[in-house]
Amino acid sequence: MKSTVEDAAGALKAGGLILLPTETVYGLGADASNAQAVAAIFEAKGRPRFNPLIAHVADAVAAEAIALFNPAARALAEAFWPGPLTIVAPVRERARVCDLARAGLDSVAVRVPGHAKARAVIAAFGGAVVAPSANRSGRPSPTTFADAVEETGFAVQAAVDGGACAVGVESTVVSVLDGGLALLRPGAVTRAEIEALIGPLNDRPDDGHRSPGRLTTHYAPDAPVRIEAEAARDGEILLGFGAGIGDPRWSLSPTGDLREAAANLFRMLREADRTRPVGIAVAPIPPVGLGEAINDRLQRAAGFVG
Ligand code: TXA
Ligand code: MG
Repeated sequence: MKSTVEDAAGALKAGGLILLPTETVYGLGADASNAQAVAAIFEAKGRPRFNPLIAHVADAVAAEAIALFNPAARALAEAFWPGPLTIVAPVRERARVCDLARAGLDSVAVRVPGHAKARAVIAAFGGAVVAPSANRSGRPSPTTFADAVEETGFAVQAAVDGGACAVGVESTVVSVLDGGLALLRPGAVTRAEIEALIGPLNDRPDDGHRSPGRLTTHYAPDAPVRIEAEAARDGEILLGFGAGIGDPRWSLSPTGDLREAAANLFRMLREADRTRPVGIAVAPIPPVGLGEAINDRLQRAAGFVG
């Protein structure tokens, strides 16, 4: 099933779920104001209800109708939207994002996606679209249309094919609450880029900045994942990075390019998993820039966090 932008907008209006392509990963979308539709997202993903969703909007004006932005939030929106950045800010009283979508918190996560088709769906629908990654809870996020259909296609009334996701890892999440700034999830908008704009980010956020989604195991394929690997052991597939490590067919980036590695990461974890290996080993990835997000996801896949 491949749906048009108009079909997807119609499905949202009718209270259905959709597969929404974005530049980061595919999302499982619903009308943010429709508690029944939002409940169906949690159901389809098997997602714990304490984990809130991101409201996707067409532009910064629509974001500010939902969230209360301070100057730092505004600077972030201006610099990085549309794009792979999510801002967590206090929710406005009359925001049309239901309680369940926010997991009852008094804050809300908002993002203007960089993918033109995502914005077209949101514009045709005319409201905020909540969309977690379209994987079933705990599994790697889908970064191709086929992978999204395989994960949660059973639950949707429309599925929009936006091609392979250019970024490949989920958006950077920054909370801007009570004058404090915290990096809740690293992503393609890097720590350095954010700090250059709004100053130092807190790495051990207090309660007000907590990110419930980070408490659970994530991004794991079925096979065990071993990181910082120099070579494959018996029965393992080695995902390489840079020249000379492993089989080039299984390299995240033969030239050692972090953008390429991020774009390939979840797709290759899934492909490796399909061969039913004893394990998936991954070569060391430098933890700088976009490498912080790649290492974050890999550590979670390997079970070191959560
Ligand atoms: O790139 C992305 O962000 C993708 C695409 C589809 O836009 N979406 C995505 O959504 O990754 P999800 O639900 O898989 O991750 C959202 C993250 C979770 O870690 C969640 O806990 C956090 O954002 N979050 C959402 N609302 C929050 C809030 N009010 N306070 C703190 N963290 C929040
Ligand atoms: Mg997710």
